[in-house]
Amino acid sequence: MIPNVDNDALVYLNGELIRLGDAKVSVLDRGFIFGDGVYDVVPAYGGKPFRMDAHLARLERSMSAIGIQCALGRAEWERIVLDLIARSGLGDCMAYIQVTRGVAKRDHGFPQGVEPTIFCMVSPFKRPDAALREGGLSAIGAPDLRWLRCDIKSVSLLGNVLARQQAIEAGVDDVIQFRDGHLTEGSAANIWVVRSGELLAPPRGNLLLEGIRYSLMEELALECGIPFQMRAISEAEVAAADELMLTSATKEVLPITRYNHQPVGEGTPGPVYARLRAAYDAKIAAL
Ligand code: PDD
Repeated sequence: MIPNVDNDALVYLNGELIRLGDAKVSVLDRGFIFGDGVYDVVPAYGGKPFRMDAHLARLERSMSAIGIQCALGRAEWERIVLDLIARSGLGDCMAYIQVTRGVAKRDHGFPQGVEPTIFCMVSPFKRPDAALREGGLSAIGAPDLRWLRCDIKSVSLLGNVLARQQAIEAGVDDVIQFRDGHLTEGSAANIWVVRSGELLAPPRGNLLLEGIRYSLMEELALECGIPFQMRAISEAEVAAADELMLTSATKEVLPITRYNHQPVGEGTPGPVYARLRAAYDAKIAAL
């Protein structure tokens, strides 16, 4: 029995549908031994996946970046996700997909002739409530200690795990990470900065994971007439921001109203957030 999960939920493991409580992977799986795998998280509302195509395209990019060849095509991935969502009976939920290099004798080099391990589960997801939307989140700044391929959605998440724990121990919700004095991202979210009415995001590249909400925020900013710029953002600019926000599949878009134990702007969610939030909600409602 695994605590705090629905052990009876059906999950997909290597072509089979089985109970989560019964799903087992070998101790020699390279995901377990080396963190040698990739994943993605697709949110769904009322049982309908949100931007699934973009999430699956990113999964394919992550696999190809680390040389995992998986026999499943886009249509099969879609079928697996839709089938698990339908069987779960859940409305708002998220599909977690993981692919590792498979099971082999422990040796760092890629094994030959090994099939990847493919796993997918669907779990309930509670949308950010009024308290979070109106109160916002707190964050502290922290050095980014991770590797230089943060653009790959790898299951090797130790740097992200330690960053989140640092936030928890500091009594805040998340960290905002900096590399060489410039903003990268949160522990599991992208960070957005508002200065003088302009929405800023750090450049796409190897130093951060390009969230599916990256292009979405660009799209929403354009729709709302909010000027948008992607450029290097210094620690000082973050500290002096009018507004800060984070985005992820599960947090959607949320304001960060306290940074380094100081209020951000007025200390309440700002006007740029309010417009982007409304535009985001409208996209979900239109699903
Ligand atoms: N994390 N950056 C990092 C390091 C992330 O882990 C995530 C998402 C994002 C935002 O990406 P997206 O908008 O596609 O969710 C950015 C997921 C939700 C997770 O690990 O659970």
